[in-house]
Amino acid sequence: MAMPATHQRLYINVDHVATLRQARRTDEPDPAAAAALCEDAGAEGITAHLREDRRHMQDDDIERLAKTVRTVFNLEMALTEEMLQIGERLRPYQITLVPERREEVTTEGGLDVSREPGKLRDGIARLKRAGVRTSLFIDPDGGAVQRSHDLGADAVELHTGAYAHHSKDEHMVRALIDAAEMGRSLGLAVHAGHGLTVRNVGPVAAIAAIEELNIGHSIVSRAIFVGLAQSIAEMRAAMVAGRGGAR
Ligand code: PXP
Repeated sequence: MAMPATHQRLYINVDHVATLRQARRTDEPDPAAAAALCEDAGAEGITAHLREDRRHMQDDDIERLAKTVRTVFNLEMALTEEMLQIGERLRPYQITLVPERREEVTTEGGLDVSREPGKLRDGIARLKRAGVRTSLFIDPDGGAVQRSHDLGADAVELHTGAYAHHSKDEHMVRALIDAAEMGRSLGLAVHAGHGLTVRNVGPVAAIAAIEELNIGHSIVSRAIFVGLAQSIAEMRAAMVAGRGGAR
């Protein structure tokens, strides 16, 4: 029997505020100021990805976000020694480990959790020792969910990119439902994100086992026309409608 849907958290990824600033290498718009506006507009968390090539977020942005976020800060990063040291020093509330390829436009697939399990296990253990909650960004695949659990992660974030590209394909939603329910039955917290918009978020918001969504590009894009508060209100309304009106 389906569980009643509980409130689903919205964490806003502010990377692309920094993308706009980096287009001119100036000091505006400031992602930390945007994060504060997102929080004022009801975001339950702020997400940012410090990429190895620093194409959007800079080290100073991450330092400031770690200090100024009033809700919770979810830092996305690749599992490298440099990033682990940053994570251990800043100790954000949560770190989501993501795969990274320099030439990609955005994070294209989930982590391959069967590769280098020892490195992943050690990285997770180091972050946990630093008091950081750990989440692994994985494809909605049962094997990857099981391995994430076995590696000691606290949470998984299910990659919704394939769903976003083929949101009319019922198999895509089914894969997310199955992976989410499996994650929850193993005791993992289940998050989701990538490519979500007000038009496609409904079926993902409706998955009771998914407790948190990470959304960036579409919210920041819409904000250019209507402002962050309105853009976030529209996304929240689409999430609530998708979850069946239950909050
Ligand atoms: N979750 C993860 C792990 C990501 O890497 C990204 C993109 O940086 C997102 C969510 C947000 O994706 P989008 O910007 O397409 O909403």
